[in-house]
Amino acid sequence: MTIPEQATSSPEPLLKVTGLVKHFPITKGLLRRQAGAVQAVDGISFDVRPGETLGIVGESGCGKSTMGRLITRLLEPTGGKIEFEGKDITHLGVAGMRPMRRDVQMIFQDPYGSLNPRHTVGSIVSAPFKLQGVTPEGGIKKEVQRLLGLVGLNPEHYNRYPHEFSGGQRQRIGIARALALKPKLVVADEPVSALDVSIQAQVVNLLDDLQDELGLTYVIIAHDLSVIRHVSDRIAVMYLGKIVELTDRKSLYEAPMHPYTKALLSAVPVPDPRRRGAKSDRILLKGDVPSPISPPSGCRFHTRCWKATEICKTQEPPLLALKTGHQVACHHPENAEDQAPDDVVLLSAREAIEIVSATPKSAEAEAAAPLTKGEVTQDAVVLAEAETTEAEPAEAEPAEAEAAEAEAAEEATTEAEATTAGSDESGSDEPGSEGESAPPRTSGDITKE
Ligand SMILES: Nc1ncnc2c1ncn2[C@@H]1O[C@H](COP(=O)(O)OP(=O)(O)OP(=O)(O)O)[C@@H](O)[C@H]1O
Ligand code: SF4
Ligand SMILES: [Mg+2]
Repeated sequence: MTIPEQATSSPEPLLKVTGLVKHFPITKGLLRRQAGAVQAVDGISFDVRPGETLGIVGESGCGKSTMGRLITRLLEPTGGKIEFEGKDITHLGVAGMRPMRRDVQMIFQDPYGSLNPRHTVGSIVSAPFKLQGVTPEGGIKKEVQRLLGLVGLNPEHYNRYPHEFSGGQRQRIGIARALALKPKLVVADEPVSALDVSIQAQVVNLLDDLQDELGLTYVIIAHDLSVIRHVSDRIAVMYLGKIVELTDRKSLYEAPMHPYTKALLSAVPVPDPRRRGAKSDRILLKGDVPSPISPPSGCRFHTRCWKATEICKTQEPPLLALKTGHQVACHHPENAEDQAPDDVVLLSAREAIEIVSATPKSAEAEAAAPLTKGEVTQDAVVLAEAETTEAEPAEAEPAEAEAAEAEAAEEATTEAEATTAGSDESGSDEPGSEGESAPPRTSGDITKE
């Protein structure tokens, strides 16, 4: 590809990540000698600007959660640099990170596993104050009740236990805890993936409202492209521990440049009734995601890419920023002048994908009332979710996905415990019995665009 002029990076990002690496060692034998490493995150660089939402998307196991834990310093990086407001926090210890914890918070994937079932909601949400030795104006209880109200929960439920709440409400408790210390950056790891689709829209709207109200900056990790589309200003696509494409939402969805992004997007139906009847081709990637223990040489996607040539096998494409700000790591990018490679496409590449023509929906869908620009209803999200499931038979096996979820939940519990450690109240107050409070906005109203 012709290397375009590099874009200048935006001034003073809130978070700056440079060449971040996390390799989990694999040990063998009695002496626990290192026999290899899981290259979970392998040299990623990006900025997060104040007030924006950066979405991180990619298949299961590509390193999204590891990246989230690295930037919130719940994991020690193997290499690279993390700067927050210009300060190097890459290797800060627990004591060094304590003041930063106020500014950088994490919302965990599993609203069940991330809350200690033995603690009351009041105790859970007040833990950050106790850990930091901060007494808010008016006292901790009053502030916790204000926070519960802010996330759409009934402040009177201060003495209830997590099991007395629904999944969506528990996620709100996790959000209230993350917001307690008025953080600047919130990293949300799959904040809605454990929730019913109908509740997802409520939580997404809540995050959106809180961002406007409190001026938060988000890094939102998800594997659901329909959710990521509606929450993100910019989106980074990850594949096997690397960022392969990073750009603003519009460019990514309208003109994806990396073949992997193109394949991911082609599997997601457009949640627009006017276009639902239109025939579309979907790219199904064949074969499994390679192991992060011994990733493919050159471009890590070359074993599944239909455009792969000899250079793709041997030379890793760097993530280059184009003049437009669009960053892509590919020797033969889509939507570029020289996208058709002169080099001979590898034999294996010709069988890397299967093109499936989607069956047109009923004529009624086509006749449905048009939506106004940018308006996406909860139905659309539900529909996108349902159709995505149908359209992706090549997704990871359910058992595998479940195991990964369970593992993530377990880790989230440990981390949440760590976050709430130090708050030793037994939570012995009687739980209340009132009904559930209403969310601050109606569901069905995701209006980021
Ligand atoms: N503590 C650990 N020890 C060893 N390997 C790990 C550890 N944590 C994660 N990994 C491995 O690192 C890789 C990336 O894992 P990670 O959880 O970051 O993926 P992910 O993109 O969040 O996936 P998912 O969408 O399923 O949550 C996986 O291969 C995983 O098995
Ligand atoms: S064309 Fe080559 S460099 Fe680009 S994604 Fe495919 S294999 Fe990777
Ligand atoms: Mg994860």
